[in-house]
Amino acid sequence: MIQANDKDALRVVMRGYQANGETTAFVPTLGNLHDGHLSLVRKAQDVADRVVVSIFINPTQFDRAEDLAAYPRTMEADLSLLKKENVDLVFLPQAEEMYPKGNATRVEVDGISEILEGDSRPGHFSGVATIVAKLFNLVRPDISIFGEKDYQQLMLIRRMQQDLDFGIEIISAPTAREPSGLAMSSRNNYLDEAQRNEIAPGLYAELCKIRDSIQSGERDYPALQAQSAENLNRKGFRTDYIEVRNANDLSLAQSNDQELVILVSAWLGKARLIDNLTVTL
Ligand code: PAF
Repeated sequence: MIQANDKDALRVVMRGYQANGETTAFVPTLGNLHDGHLSLVRKAQDVADRVVVSIFINPTQFDRAEDLAAYPRTMEADLSLLKKENVDLVFLPQAEEMYPKGNATRVEVDGISEILEGDSRPGHFSGVATIVAKLFNLVRPDISIFGEKDYQQLMLIRRMQQDLDFGIEIISAPTAREPSGLAMSSRNNYLDEAQRNEIAPGLYAELCKIRDSIQSGERDYPALQAQSAENLNRKGFRTDYIEVRNANDLSLAQSNDQELVILVSAWLGKARLIDNLTVTL
């Protein structure tokens, strides 16, 4: 596994792959890797000759709801996991190289950045869009893989790729879950054992409950949402939102929509957990 610690080193290796006619799939990460990330890496291996992973704790996407200083830094363990997965190239840039003094350009994806996660975490999606655009320009992969767990982020990246013509195919990978149903996430590390095993799985259970009600014909989405928020709060969560939306554009779900997504964000102790479930009628 090759480690590129700066942009020049990355470009040299990428040029080599391109000169050999090899296709590349790129998985951007914030590090603190778990099985969810590894499932993205495996998907990347299925679709391209070479797999490139970046580990960069991007300061511009953190807000008060998620503390940059508290984000776990586990570089040694991350590198050893990626090596075991036979990743070809890891890009490990420093913040000063990605955001040099005087940098002033940000990528804004209107509309989708302002609702749900964007409403709860102002500036978050501008930080995500900016770093992903920069990484796309540096790595220039054929394909990039994103997890469906961050549903809104995935939609934002697809929108940005279409609008800015990166010419990169965006592929999504299903949410990896623990046997309890809890979606895998770096944020689960902020939970204590009882929260993780006993309460946190209730988030996915609530999504399944809403899905089942919808599949049984319920169409009063505001009532379903209100009831679910109450259920979650009773179990020990502090619900930020739980909403049924149109799966294609995240507009408020209408009773005749056929493709829906239920999105939830809730605090449990120090962790702000997110999850989602799609429903096709
Ligand atoms: O989903 C993430 O881990 C991050 O938002 C990403 C896409 C790596 C950008 O920093």
